[in-house]
Amino acid sequence: MIKNLRLLLIGGLLTNCAFAQKLTLPVETAHNALVLQVSNNNDLTQVYFGEKLNNPSEYKAISPGDNNDYSGVYRSAYTSSGSRNLLEPAISIQHADGNQSLDLRYVSYKQEKLSTDISLTSVKLKDPVYSIEVTLFYKAYIKDDVIEQWSVINQREKGDIILQKYASANLNLSAKSYWLRQYHGEWAKEMRPEETQITHGIKTLDSKLGTRANLFMPSVFMVSLDRSSTEDDGKVLMGALEWSGNFRTDLELDPQDHLRIISGINNYASAYRLKPGIDFVTPAFVYTYSTHGKGDASRHLHSWARDYKIMDGKRDRLTLLNNWESTYFDFNEQKLFNILKDTKELGVDLFLLDDGWFGNKYPRNDDRAGLGDWQENHNKLPNGIASIAREADKDGVKFGIWIEPEMVNPKSILYNKHPDWVIKQPKRDEYYFRNQLVLDLSNPAVQDFVFGVVDSLFIKDPKLAYIKWDCNSVIFNAYSAHLKHDQSQLYVDYVRGLYKVLQRVRQKYPNIPMMLCSGGGGRVDYAALQYFTEFWPSDNTDPLERIFIQWEYSYFYPAITSSNHVTDWGRQPLKYRVDVAMMGKLGFDIVTSKLNPHDLRFCKDAVNTYNAIKSIIWHGDQYRLSDPQTDNVASVMYVDTLKKSAVMFNYLVNNRFDSGSKGPILLKGLDATRKYTIKEINLYPGAKSNVNAETVYTGDFLMKIGINPNVDARRSSVIIHIEQAQ
Ligand code: DGJ
Repeated sequence: MIKNLRLLLIGGLLTNCAFAQKLTLPVETAHNALVLQVSNNNDLTQVYFGEKLNNPSEYKAISPGDNNDYSGVYRSAYTSSGSRNLLEPAISIQHADGNQSLDLRYVSYKQEKLSTDISLTSVKLKDPVYSIEVTLFYKAYIKDDVIEQWSVINQREKGDIILQKYASANLNLSAKSYWLRQYHGEWAKEMRPEETQITHGIKTLDSKLGTRANLFMPSVFMVSLDRSSTEDDGKVLMGALEWSGNFRTDLELDPQDHLRIISGINNYASAYRLKPGIDFVTPAFVYTYSTHGKGDASRHLHSWARDYKIMDGKRDRLTLLNNWESTYFDFNEQKLFNILKDTKELGVDLFLLDDGWFGNKYPRNDDRAGLGDWQENHNKLPNGIASIAREADKDGVKFGIWIEPEMVNPKSILYNKHPDWVIKQPKRDEYYFRNQLVLDLSNPAVQDFVFGVVDSLFIKDPKLAYIKWDCNSVIFNAYSAHLKHDQSQLYVDYVRGLYKVLQRVRQKYPNIPMMLCSGGGGRVDYAALQYFTEFWPSDNTDPLERIFIQWEYSYFYPAITSSNHVTDWGRQPLKYRVDVAMMGKLGFDIVTSKLNPHDLRFCKDAVNTYNAIKSIIWHGDQYRLSDPQTDNVASVMYVDTLKKSAVMFNYLVNNRFDSGSKGPILLKGLDATRKYTIKEINLYPGAKSNVNAETVYTGDFLMKIGINPNVDARRSSVIIHIEQAQ
């Protein structure tokens, strides 16, 4: 009892002196505010994150500290280590003299408006003892309630310092309880969600895979406050690191029940040497926050991504026919000419030639040889890809091609010529992932080579219209012959090298659409999507599986980025497969010449139907109506920004007896005051719809009473087009 009283007194004392505030700095978006405060002691704390106040002058009244915060920095805006801090740090360093302490104090701030919609706040911190400066950046996208946060570390000591941890952001949340929705996966099992209440201590989400870092776990996550949020209700933060390599996000529930989220590059095996005068710029951690549930938060993220982040987010995409699953490695010029005819017949925009077109001394006839040798295989393509491109031109379709330029098979001329370009331990046996190794992109010579792979394709076919950029191997035996004594920089410098290549590609070829593929969804993130127009969510194209995978991805990435191909995976009818692939960027990877006439007719009609509605899917707002995790029917809707036109996709996801849509499903996102008609579209030839297309409904009715798409075992997928009545 006496001990507790003493602690309270100490806490009280700390509250009164150490936390007395000098400056309050709000970072506001349309609905939210993140509030920083500087104490008399010059500690920078983040005292609030949540709905913004009507009167900004009241932010300074937010109570700055907690009793019993012995350190005074529990809610630090960027927690240092080795001095007063008692919790997980955001930054940890070793000074030039070997000392490991850091204590960052406020120096100055700057707040500027970059446009009517974007503000940038930067706060400079400095250690009073050592010449280390850290500047924290908060880029606020006002209308979308999105903030990107990163830090820049600079030092002017007498020698190099070692960065042992260097997070992008250190966010503090306050609530009664915290609910984490995280994702795990494997090949063909991407984006499996798990939701749990966060307990005290540290929960870490991370990756150590190097290249396709997201294979086991992506950096995207959600935290609901007070209770698990639903689609349309509850407080939820969605976050992700904009980095295409190892990441680490620590979620620490501290002794005062605040949640500290510290996210950045994974410092695992990655101590980084920083020379005097050089800036170390961390990647951005991006997040959005909504008090209206997961749906609203995801729409904000989508809108931000299309407006500001993804390559050509506001432009169109190409539909395509891919030959991977119809030929694998077994094709020749004539086979490809035939597929070009099929592409034309199907009515899609482009033919995409997949893996297997290259390698001569080591022909790429399976996945054991040829990677790295990017010359056309003379047996399969005696006249080169130029001849395929010419034929495509004649057929009036565009031509695109697959590459995996970061990788090498040991059976390749490249490997024989440049063993020092390959990531592998010099004294250990090689260890393979899909019989291949990763090239060392920390090496500028390798960066030149990888850029050259892309560049040479345009020399062969100046009209090349699309690139599928694959990346199948993780990094085993991390060692760079180029980095010599700085081995622990490999994971970071690899990703930086990749970005240098992608920047060069984009400088020279700004308009070429590129798909980010990784033998499935092992790589997507918002840094990579600055260079790529779309990504491949999973090799698993079984449509039932895809409904779940696409549903979870859709919380973080808009439909325009999701490459969905119709394949022969799964047991569902062709219509179901096509309908699921339409919820994103439609492609086909089937042998269309083997389709029966009805199926072929259906696919051709489906391409036309898709062309009529694709801009609603790509550029509209997405609403999730019925959840496949909990309901027998999955239902998703896209509404154009003017609320004139919408599409509702419905699928049976439970095959038990008599499963189906037993009643109306409530629509969302329409204008309650306007009138709409509904019509079932994408019907299989000869099928009749039992959805009443005669009635005119108000948006109010559709959103309060709803409509039944009549999904059942015979009508296992149903698409409904909603249009404003004249
Ligand atoms: C993995 C991709 O996910 C597939 O679509 C295909 O391109 C193969 N690689 C080719 O090797």
